[in-house]
Amino acid sequence: MCGIVATIGPRPSAPLLLEALRQLEYRGYDSAGIATVSPRGLHCLRASGKLVNLSRKLEAATAAGVTGIGHTRWATHGSPEERNAHPQLDQSGQLAVVQNGIIENHRPLREQLEAEGVAFVSDTDTEVIPHLVARQIERLSSHVAPADLLLKAVQSTTDLLKGAYAIAVVWAARPGEVVAARWQAPLLVGLGEGEFFCASDTPAIATVARSAVSLEDGESVRLTPLGVELFDCDGNRIQRTPRRLEGGDQIADKRPYRHFMLKEIHEQGESTQRWLDRYLRGSRVELGLDPGLFEGLHGVEILACGTSRHAAMVGGHLLQQLAGIPTSVHYASEFRYAPPPLRPGILTIGVTQSGETADTLAAMAMEEERRLAADVTELAPRLLGITNRPESSLGRRLPQILDIAAGVEVGVAATKTFMGQLLAFYGLALDLAARRHARSTEEIQGFTDQLKGFPPLLQALIEQHDQCCASLAQDFLHTEDMIYLGRGINYPIALEGALKLKEISYIHAEGYPAGEMKHGPIALLDAKVPVLSIATPGPVFEKVLSNVQEAKARNVPLIGVAPECQDAQLFDVLLPIPVVNELLSPLLTVIPMQLLSYHIAASKGLDVDQPRNLAKSVTVE
Ligand code: M6R
Repeated sequence: MCGIVATIGPRPSAPLLLEALRQLEYRGYDSAGIATVSPRGLHCLRASGKLVNLSRKLEAATAAGVTGIGHTRWATHGSPEERNAHPQLDQSGQLAVVQNGIIENHRPLREQLEAEGVAFVSDTDTEVIPHLVARQIERLSSHVAPADLLLKAVQSTTDLLKGAYAIAVVWAARPGEVVAARWQAPLLVGLGEGEFFCASDTPAIATVARSAVSLEDGESVRLTPLGVELFDCDGNRIQRTPRRLEGGDQIADKRPYRHFMLKEIHEQGESTQRWLDRYLRGSRVELGLDPGLFEGLHGVEILACGTSRHAAMVGGHLLQQLAGIPTSVHYASEFRYAPPPLRPGILTIGVTQSGETADTLAAMAMEEERRLAADVTELAPRLLGITNRPESSLGRRLPQILDIAAGVEVGVAATKTFMGQLLAFYGLALDLAARRHARSTEEIQGFTDQLKGFPPLLQALIEQHDQCCASLAQDFLHTEDMIYLGRGINYPIALEGALKLKEISYIHAEGYPAGEMKHGPIALLDAKVPVLSIATPGPVFEKVLSNVQEAKARNVPLIGVAPECQDAQLFDVLLPIPVVNELLSPLLTVIPMQLLSYHIAASKGLDVDQPRNLAKSVTVE
């Protein structure tokens, strides 16, 4: 979480920083700030709340200089008030630091600095950094050339830090210089026309840089008006070939939609078509993955968080039911501290739309390390990443990546990337079903043929439900609790529906397997607790309907996501979906979940794209 940026070049920094931060606001929006440096000194400006507050402040202030750093914050240490916003300064007010990540040893460092007389002004973990850099400058100044002082001071400061961080530093004494460094947090360097940039993510630099270089852990970089110098963890100069930026990475406009989330929901027909064009060859799935991943495969384990985990649960169901492969799905945050015993022939899949989720990255790294440490051929790691950002930390770390190609997603609530993750699992399960002869060629062709018909089906469904959900949402404005039910492959969709509602409308919602209600949660039901049930024709259709009857007997308002049929009269409100093979139904049943949550939150006047306390990319543990 948090986004950092830096600029240096002929143009005034402040407007460039502001625009770059606008592109990074999805990473956090509790507060924002910039520091620019000119020969007249360092100018720091911060504001709590959204970026617009900083931009208003800037209109009335001076932030001169062509060198600068900026930050948009998702609070970890210290409440989201101005004094905890970044940049954080040293005691002289001449050195400024922005940071993304967490300094885990900030407490002992702070105690040590306080004992030496430093007075802290914030509750942040970050504030130790400017004080430490200032100390290192003092220490090194007798034997390091002034031109290298900031660089060396930052490099020796990073040796003292534990945790995950990407930092950028400016110093009034060196107005033509920015130094940045990273450890387990993303940081890239953008190269433009005589101007240079640093940023946590590509959209921040996509319109101003022509190419970019990603920093690896332990590396640092010095930006000056003359160019960019990269250094390894020992401070040695290194060279890396930049990759071209195509410009398509910048965040698009949300018009004509009111919110990015609604726009992204509406893009799902198109993104599905793009996925099919990319990965289907006739009726064959071609994912372009190394066949070695699948040789002698005994099982699959999937690690993910949040919505990505719900997609992984659908994926687990498909891998087992379509391809006959034992599959387990784990919360990445749990797996990394309590992994199951090692088993041979396991494919480990990390699913993360951003490719930056700290828990997922750490769980994948841990799994790789313990398998390598076992030093047994059968236990060797086989790792695959499923992401929307192949250039992300996950993408750079893993040799095998399945790109969901959903396009940039800005809304914090994942929608079209969830659809892309589902499609990735359909592709993987069908590919594996074919390789393992778990399904006949005709059956597999039947699935791929049906998938080809989904883009127009989805588009029509989205249009239809957009209208129904907009009017239905009015009935939920005072709802405090809601239950989502599903079974089998649609149980994860019930979980996803509940998560979508919670995160953007702040209504308490829970998803349950429908058959579990009678084992406790049914006690919650009364006329004030709506129940949304997904009921799709398949082996448990009748069972779900019986579970719904049990809820109806408790007088609850009942919403059905089900095909139009006699049985559907049971529901007070029906959000109809077409009948498809039940294994493909999650691609459809998720649409009313997304739209209902969206319209409830939008009708309540909430900030749908940037809900409170959240950030799009969770880069802290
Ligand atoms: O980038 P990731 O897919 O790894 O993100 C995982 C979760 O943080 C994310 O899915 C979160 O739950 C979303 N806000 C859900 O809409």
